[in-house]
Amino acid sequence: MKKFLALLLSLALMATLLVGCGGGEKETGKTEDKAEDKKEDTKKEDETKDEVEAPADSKTVKVGITIYKFDDNFMTLYREELQRYFKEELSNNEVTYEVTVVDGKNDQAEQTNQIQTFIADKYDVIIANLVQSSAASTVVNLCKDADIPVIFINREPTAEDLDLWDKVAYVGADARQSGTMQGEIIYDLDNHGDLNGDGKVSYVMVIGDPENVDAQYRTEFSIKALTDKGIEVEELVAQRGDWDQAKGQEIVAAALTQYGDQIEVVFCNNDAMALGARQAIEAAGRKVGENIYLVGVDALEEVVSYVESGDITGTVLNDHVGQAHTAADVAVKAVNGEQLEKNYTVDYVKVTK
Ligand code: GAL
Repeated sequence: MKKFLALLLSLALMATLLVGCGGGEKETGKTEDKAEDKKEDTKKEDETKDEVEAPADSKTVKVGITIYKFDDNFMTLYREELQRYFKEELSNNEVTYEVTVVDGKNDQAEQTNQIQTFIADKYDVIIANLVQSSAASTVVNLCKDADIPVIFINREPTAEDLDLWDKVAYVGADARQSGTMQGEIIYDLDNHGDLNGDGKVSYVMVIGDPENVDAQYRTEFSIKALTDKGIEVEELVAQRGDWDQAKGQEIVAAALTQYGDQIEVVFCNNDAMALGARQAIEAAGRKVGENIYLVGVDALEEVVSYVESGDITGTVLNDHVGQAHTAADVAVKAVNGEQLEKNYTVDYVKVTK
């Protein structure tokens, strides 16, 4: 009798499990989704795919996004907003945007492979934050052959590359504007940045990735904003920090050891490096606003609170929300076969106390 009961129980259990499995399959629709799920488990670090429940008769649009590297403060905010916007604001009963975001790991060869995989998997549109802007022509040609529109974000390709096909566009901000605003923040101080009154502004420039126009323009235009107003400048150090906080800290710590009080302003091409610079400045016993100035770009939350407390002189809002929404809206236009403009530009905004 006991054995019979045990048999009945295990049969009931099996039946429950089978029903459970069946239900699961109905939800995901296709059996290959399971393989996809497994892939997901092992690839969590470098790929995120939104689990979307498409209403029965809605159309699914596959959006492939590749980010130059996940380990970048600003691009993390940007990609999270892109995913949220596609899922929560653009998907509706008629159309579901199925978004896959992959990590380019700062390796152009790897990123080009990812784009080829999107193409092989018949994605409807690709959004690419290139590792190297110089890869744009290769990417445009791959997408053109497959007739899949491509929207470049954040790292601006040349006008020539954008002209290669009409289903390609760039969404970004004009880095000249952010550089100019950094220079203006310093110019607007009572002493125009000349703390020691020797008639010139002596500065350290912490550069992002020099291959990138954001780094080139911010470096050039921050200084140009001062010299255009007749301010004399002296460059003490200019070094690449690859947009990275730890590198920003190292560069500024070394500069402070070498030049000490001579340094009046530290310009950082972005906020992550400015956060590193702030640590180095504090460690050297200097005080922002009293005997040194520090500016960044992006307006990361942490930096904005340092601007409020006076520990960073100023920053410039790099509007990741505006850029993410524009990029997604342009991608939708491209999928719908609408005519695209070449450039979509979102404004920067100055942030001071
Ligand atoms: C810039 C941003 C940097 C970094 C870089 C990556 O626009 O200010 O923080 O994210 O893009 O290309």
